[in-house]
Amino acid sequence: MSQQKYHLRILSEPEEFSAVEALQRLVWPGNETEVVPAHLLIAAVKHGGLCIGAFITTDKESEQIVGFVFGLPGIYHTPDGPRLMHYSHMLGVHPDHRSEGLGFLLKRAQWQMVRKQGVDRITWTYDPLLSRNAHLNIAKLGAVCNTYHIDYYGVLRDGLNVGMPTDRFEVDWWVHSQRVNRRLSRQARQQLDLAHYLAAGAEIINPSGLRADGLPYPRPIRFPFDIQDSSLKAEDYPGLLLVEIPSDYLQIKVLDPNLALEWRLHSRQIFPVLFQHGYFVTDFIYLRGNPARSLYVLSHGDHTL
Ligand SMILES: CC(C)(COP(=O)(O)OP(=O)(O)OC[C@H]1O[C@@H](n2cnc3c(N)ncnc32)[C@H](O)[C@@H]1OP(=O)(O)O)[C@@H](O)C(=O)NCCC(=O)NCCS
Repeated sequence: MSQQKYHLRILSEPEEFSAVEALQRLVWPGNETEVVPAHLLIAAVKHGGLCIGAFITTDKESEQIVGFVFGLPGIYHTPDGPRLMHYSHMLGVHPDHRSEGLGFLLKRAQWQMVRKQGVDRITWTYDPLLSRNAHLNIAKLGAVCNTYHIDYYGVLRDGLNVGMPTDRFEVDWWVHSQRVNRRLSRQARQQLDLAHYLAAGAEIINPSGLRADGLPYPRPIRFPFDIQDSSLKAEDYPGLLLVEIPSDYLQIKVLDPNLALEWRLHSRQIFPVLFQHGYFVTDFIYLRGNPARSLYVLSHGDHTL
C-alpha cells in the first residue's frame, strides 16, 4: 500500500468540483445524466455537505485528482424524534489507483469530519454483490447492515449498472462505536478468516458452484430455520451464518449477463429474509486465491456497538 503519495483535502473551489465531475465520468463511465454536476456539489457543501478529494502530484509538479467522497446531511427518525445523520452519496477512486487503500483513506477522512459535526451515524448504499466494496465497507470500515432495497434507483444508465436491477444494501456506520473506532485505529484489527468462523459454528447457507469456464454460479439456499415461522425465539436462530457472493461480479456482468441476473435474484431471496429474522451483516471474508471466494458474515441480534 503506497498511501503516502496521496494528499487529501476538503474541496471548496469551483474548479475542484469540475474536476470531481470529470473523475465521475471515469469511475462510472457511459452516461452523462448520471454525473452529479458541480453546481449541486457546491450547493450541498455550502449547506453542511462534505466533499473530500485525494490528489497525486504529477511529473510536471501539478496535481491530479484520483479519488473523492461526497455526502450531504440528512435526517433519520428515532422514537425520540428526528436526528441528524450524514448520507454518503458517492465514493470513487480512479481505476488506476484502486486497491491501494485510497477508498479507506477517503472514508476515514469523512469519518473524522462528520464526527466534528456532532453526528453519530453515516449511511450509504452499495451493490451487495460487489465484493471489493463489501470488503471495504464491512470488513475494513466496520459498517453494519440490516436493510436491503430492491431496485433502489430503478434504471441506472452508467456502465457499471446498466441493464441490472439496482438492488442495494443500506449500511450504517456508527461513527462513535467501538467497532468502528477499532477498525479505523492505526493498529489494524486482525481480520477473522473463514476458518475462525467455521470453528465458531458458522455455516455457509449457499455454497456456490463453479462452472467449467471458472465463473461461480448460485446453488440452492439452505436456511437453517423455518423461514415461514414467525414465532421463532432468539435461541432458535444460529448465531452466525455465512452467505457467499461472487468475488468478481463485474466480470460476470460482462461475460454472462444472465448469470449476473441469476446472482441478483438469488441474493434477493436471502438477505431480506435474514434481515427480517433479526440478522445483521457484521463482517466480510475475502479469500484471495484461484478461485477467490467472498462471504458475508451475518450475526443474529443487534450488532451496532
Ligand atoms: C469501491 C472503491 C471506491 C474502493 O476504492 P479502493 O481505493 O480500491 O479501496 P481500498 O483499496 O481502500 O479497499 C479495497 C479493498 O478491497 C480489496 N479487494 C480488491 N479486490 C477485491 C475483491 N474482488 N473482493 C474483495 N476485496 C477486494 C483490496 O485489496 C482492498 O483491501 P486491503 O486494503 O485489505 O488489501 C473503488 O473500487 C471504486 O471507485 N469503484 C467504482 C465505484 C464504486 O463502486 N463506488 C462505491 C459506491 S458509490
